[in-house]
Amino acid sequence: MAKNNLLVSLDVGTTKTRALACDIDPGGYLRVKGAGIAPTNGLMRGAVIDMEATTGSVQACLQSLRQSLGHMPLATHLGVSGCNISSQIVRVETVVKRARGAITPAEIEHVLDMAERSSIPDDRQVLTAFPVSYMLDGTEGIRDPAGMYGHVLGAEVHLVTGDVGPIRNLTSCVNAAELAVDSDLTAQALAAAEAVLSEQEKQLGVVVVDIGGGTTDMVLYTDGVPWHTASIPLGGINITKDISYGFRLPQDVAEEIKLQYATVGEGALDDQAEIDAPGFYPGRWTMFEQRDLATIVVARMEELLELIKDEIRRTGHFDVLPAGVVFTGGGSELQGLEELATAVLGLPARQGIVPAMRGMSEDIRRPEFATSVGLTMYAAKLQQARSQPPIGAALGTMAARLGSLVRSFIPMS
Ligand SMILES: Nc1ncnc2c1ncn2[C@@H]1O[C@H](COP(=O)(O)OP(=O)(O)OP(=O)(O)O)[C@@H](O)[C@H]1O
Ligand SMILES: [Mg+2]
Repeated sequence: MAKNNLLVSLDVGTTKTRALACDIDPGGYLRVKGAGIAPTNGLMRGAVIDMEATTGSVQACLQSLRQSLGHMPLATHLGVSGCNISSQIVRVETVVKRARGAITPAEIEHVLDMAERSSIPDDRQVLTAFPVSYMLDGTEGIRDPAGMYGHVLGAEVHLVTGDVGPIRNLTSCVNAAELAVDSDLTAQALAAAEAVLSEQEKQLGVVVVDIGGGTTDMVLYTDGVPWHTASIPLGGINITKDISYGFRLPQDVAEEIKLQYATVGEGALDDQAEIDAPGFYPGRWTMFEQRDLATIVVARMEELLELIKDEIRRTGHFDVLPAGVVFTGGGSELQGLEELATAVLGLPARQGIVPAMRGMSEDIRRPEFATSVGLTMYAAKLQQARSQPPIGAALGTMAARLGSLVRSFIPMS
């Protein structure tokens, strides 16, 4: 993939661009070798709106990575959002030619490839395909048909797809920053989930919600597979703008006020403590009460949580999510969010914890880095898959097919 088997991930977020470089130590564990971060210019709600500015942000992030890594990376595993990411379950089946032989891995790959090619319009591309279950001669719910006997092999496959145009725009910006992009792209929410969920949570039923600056990306897992992915065009920037409009403050001041004082926890709406903030004109200060700030922030967060609830309801899995909701992204740092989310969603809620890795600083363990850490985990899966390709496997979008293969060498705590 790159120098000394270095695994590099790039998360171009609406507010920040983050890069993470890891290698795999002799014990088979991911080890952090360097990290870079730079403000993003040129994106709106996760999508590129200014190619030059976005390229500049990637370059700045790479310069920052170079300082800790000691050299420039050559290639990266890229996370995507802001391209109408959506999910669908497709069912396909094929007649297996050798009626008497056992199903082979190549036949399984064939049926999965059929699923990937099916019902995808020209302007969409498959990012990831997860086999949900297989069917053999009408028997449903088969987890692994390899070695079984049957005539008609079917598969139910979850496809995560995105719009080709926005994905190409982002990859062009990364290429313009002189960084090659790994052909496998990963939806950012799936990457965040990879970093913070246990296998048990994925089996039981859980939703990961990544509240970024411009978008809130979510993915719902049940029975170990992602059943639904969605992106809501709201994020932390909306809260900042609300504070800016509400108290007539410059946006950078509103952002600072949010980071320092915003809380949606119990008692926030009763707190009469006063906050002073510099207004638009030098020497003019604006004074307001903490509870007025909380009113604005709670209203916007409740709106976002209701949209998340609607999205979960639409999947039909609302009542089977024992592991509840796990929040990542900078927006998950909002004080009191778990409390408000539990009340609005009626589900257990917690902040996602990024697993510890050797060489990792505390900054990288913050939930804003969950996407980058998860992207590196995906890159590790792909690297291992490429060195031990399954028989007949076309390694297109297939990190997910290889999940159990690689789980053991990625540290989970
Ligand atoms: N302590 C905090 N309280 C409230 N909001 C916070 C806090 N810390 C960070 N944020 C918000 O998190 C947002 C940035 O999150 P993040 O870095 O995950 O977004 P991004 O990856 O750049 O954007 P996106 O994923 O939407 O493309 C900002 O709006 C920021 O204000
Ligand atoms: Mg993000």
